[in-house]
Amino acid sequence: MALIRTENLSHTYSTGTPFERVAVHDINFTAEKGEYVGIIGATGSGKSTFIQHLNGLLKPTTGNVYYDGTDIHESKKHTHDIRFKVGLVFQYPEYQLFESTVFDDIAFGPKNMGLPEDEIRERVYEAAGFVGLGESFMEKSPFGLSGGEKRRAAIAGVIAMRPEVLILDEPTAGLDPQGQAEIIRNIMSYKATHGATVLLVTHNMEEIARNVNRIVLLNKGNIVMDGTPAHVFSESERLSKLGLAAPKASLIAAKLRTLGLPLEQDIYTLKRLRKNLNELKGESGKLKAENEQHEIMAGQMNRPPVLQQEDVTGQMNRPPVWDANDGGEQHA
Ligand SMILES: Nc1ncnc2c1ncn2[C@@H]1O[C@H](COP(=O)(O)OP(=O)(O)OP(=O)(O)O)[C@@H](O)[C@H]1O
Ligand SMILES: [Mg+2]
Repeated sequence: MALIRTENLSHTYSTGTPFERVAVHDINFTAEKGEYVGIIGATGSGKSTFIQHLNGLLKPTTGNVYYDGTDIHESKKHTHDIRFKVGLVFQYPEYQLFESTVFDDIAFGPKNMGLPEDEIRERVYEAAGFVGLGESFMEKSPFGLSGGEKRRAAIAGVIAMRPEVLILDEPTAGLDPQGQAEIIRNIMSYKATHGATVLLVTHNMEEIARNVNRIVLLNKGNIVMDGTPAHVFSESERLSKLGLAAPKASLIAAKLRTLGLPLEQDIYTLKRLRKNLNELKGESGKLKAENEQHEIMAGQMNRPPVLQQEDVTGQMNRPPVWDANDGGEQHA
């Protein structure tokens, strides 16, 4: 059974007003335990609206959301409990930080779960460790942190609840490449340690290409593609029509294919592109070496043997060497 399932999920904002807006429409989505799903789509395609339904933060206008087979809006208590199982890190971490110290902010979720003091402390330190926030940050005000540190504190606050599903809305937006890579590593390490299911919303195609095993593409509130990165990124023209670009490696590979290089179809990371090019180089190197060998041999066959006249004469005059014991076969 799917861990998360939405059934004909639609959400309309400001119904009955001039600002009425259908943000997600008739979404049927499932995620299995342990999956790492990337959610992509142009600005305004409904990504944030969609994921906020998965932990009950938004209620569907029509349709249903199930967690482990049960409708998450079945009862108030159930919806409350789901928030701890499905952790959501907001697109803007500022919305998630409101306590006076980083420690209290990270502890907010576990406190709400009604956990004992010791366990809260243990979880806060574990979560801070996952995101690389050391002891020195614990008593700082979250409002004095840098953008990247705020992002980490917000992620730690969610991780401290040890959710079975971790949903992150553009967790690396606005960070430098090193900061982005660290956050992604933190997420991976939480996933590996707790066997969590991860849903990652991002505009960063390189990031998604390197990490997820499945991509869901939203357009105008609908799921328009759902498949492996290889499948989704092979449709670079379609992506471009939807306002997105395939990762650089896919585009370079596509270009090289049009120039005649027989590259494999499922290239979407630079690592894979490099490996594939090296293999081709290796093969062409081998081919070149074999061709050269053939040329040499062909040349040798056509070319008269380069022998000194005396040698030829000498060889011709020399009597054959017979082995008396082998039945008369001539040895060269
Ligand atoms: N609180 C709201 N009230 C009214 N309309 C909203 C609200 N939040 C979002 N919308 C509208 O719903 C649509 C989907 O927005 P959403 O924020 O889900 O998109 P998104 O894919 O997350 O975009 P982005 O990549 O910019 O974060 C947009 O047209 C947006 O203007
Ligand atoms: Mg968004």
